[in-house]
Amino acid sequence: LNASLKIDFEPVGLRGPCQPGISVLECARHLGVDLVNLCGGAGKCGRCSVQIIAGDTTPLTKTEKNILSEDHIRRGYRLACETMPLSDLKVAVPPDSLTAPQRAQVESMESPVVPEPLIRLYPVELFQPGFVDLSSDFRRLSNGLTEKYGIHKLSIDVDVLSELPARLRDGKRNICVGLRQQEIIALTGPDTKPMGIAVDLGTTKIAVYLVDLEIGRVLASKGMMNPQIKYGEDIISRFMYAQASPEQAVRLWKIVIDTLNQMISGLCTDSGVLTENIFEVVIVCNTAMHHLFLGLPTESLSRAPYIPVIDSDLDVKAGKFGLKTAKGAYIHFLPNIAGYVGSDHVAMLLAVGILQKKGVVLALDIGTNTEICLSDNGRLSSLSCASGPAFEGAHVKFGMRAANGAIERLRIEDNMTTYQTIGGRPARGFCGSGILDVVAELYKAGAVEKSGRMIDGHPLIRHMDGHKEFVIAVKNSDQTKSSEITFSQKDLREIQLAKGAIRTGIETLLKANNRAKEEIGQIIIAGAFGSYIDLENAKKVGMLPNISEDRIIQVGNAAGLGSRLALASRTKREEAVQIASQVEYIELAAFPGFSTMFTEAMYMG
Ligand code: FES
Repeated sequence: LNASLKIDFEPVGLRGPCQPGISVLECARHLGVDLVNLCGGAGKCGRCSVQIIAGDTTPLTKTEKNILSEDHIRRGYRLACETMPLSDLKVAVPPDSLTAPQRAQVESMESPVVPEPLIRLYPVELFQPGFVDLSSDFRRLSNGLTEKYGIHKLSIDVDVLSELPARLRDGKRNICVGLRQQEIIALTGPDTKPMGIAVDLGTTKIAVYLVDLEIGRVLASKGMMNPQIKYGEDIISRFMYAQASPEQAVRLWKIVIDTLNQMISGLCTDSGVLTENIFEVVIVCNTAMHHLFLGLPTESLSRAPYIPVIDSDLDVKAGKFGLKTAKGAYIHFLPNIAGYVGSDHVAMLLAVGILQKKGVVLALDIGTNTEICLSDNGRLSSLSCASGPAFEGAHVKFGMRAANGAIERLRIEDNMTTYQTIGGRPARGFCGSGILDVVAELYKAGAVEKSGRMIDGHPLIRHMDGHKEFVIAVKNSDQTKSSEITFSQKDLREIQLAKGAIRTGIETLLKANNRAKEEIGQIIIAGAFGSYIDLENAKKVGMLPNISEDRIIQVGNAAGLGSRLALASRTKREEAVQIASQVEYIELAAFPGFSTMFTEAMYMG
């Protein structure tokens, strides 16, 4: 028996060893993946289904053939309790099969907006066609709007046009016409309220908001992991997947559309809204997600100098992309700035009101790529740094995403470790904020040098199999097995690279603007990870410059807020375009002195 197989559960981000002869459900339990298993693994409930993305397993059993649909079987779905690995496995866990929902942040600061939607509904009274008036259906409708509201030069969406004859002849005289500027995009009943959807489409997480366009308020919101993760955690591997064949590109696109539709339907059901009353969608995302969504070629974006196909804002028909909305609704994409600085950065800057800021302000959204903007009295410069997925839990042995059981806070006092986990569940790894704490606390405790080297002989550091490590906790993912959660010298190097990249970005922007860190009036930190970090520790490890904490604010999902503002207000949409046009993009790796700055930024403190 080969006891050294590896199993990787996505999008949970938990991976570890597994053994042939043990079911995928057992492996999940061992690694702390909370798979639903109502029948306890007896092959009866059918709730533990997972999708095998890569690797060999034992063949489909009779039980599985009985429980799973043909379509699911074709797509590689299996019952985790009936399936055993025969090689390294990559497994996708659908949201329904998870008991503990992942923390996908949708919250942000609030920002009241004066509603100024692009969409307006106009009630009109229609007259039945007859011999007296021989004008076409469309002319009769547009004449009605001209007479009542003085609106001229109307056009109409072709799908709405095809439903017009039936509408005019169904005996109901009062309807509402949904207008987007001069275009008729919907015909609805008289009491319809116009709704919109704002989306922050991240590489790892998706946040969706249902917005009442008349009052500009969020009615409901939902966060989910981006299901594309199973085809590649980072953008480069997704590009490779999409570029391999047109079918794969479509698969990558379709899985996002299906998830968005699922999220939109859920929000609408919860709020008693019909999906056909969604008249506008705004999506913000990085440039790569933007191109993948639109089906644009990604070859030039995936190679230096990373040229996007388009950077201006864009309107496309939602129906063409399979989104469940009103027939003629549009998706509006805010402008991108560069290959690695997308509309999510523009949305973040819009949300924090960057154009209204005085003095020197830094705004950063920390993720696999961290985008940073420096505003020097309204003069904007932005860059992107490859901070990598270490803060998302990847490349760190016991790293995991922010889900139940992840250590999110950790303190060391008198060489004693205390920690707190998400959901108060038994520890099974640590997420980004926990990792940052580990590094900072080890440094404070004198167990790590300024260079990042773990100190031999320190009581917190032990030698194990030729490497140095810190033992954080003993995890009990099941009652029979226990093992340790450790943080090694190698893990520490990964974190140094990540935080060093961010600090290099900050220093580069300061240098490009001839500013010193003492002149920074405010640092704004956006994004899920950034909202949970301990600021003191972020400064301690040298990720952020050492400025007083009252000048640093954590604003949550600002990109999501920016998408809502652009959805609710045309003025805000114009402001987004202005921001994008004002940003001077800086290519970090080409900036003079980059390597020296990066080496220095790796140091603690
Ligand atoms: S746990 Fe019930 S069928 Fe697998």
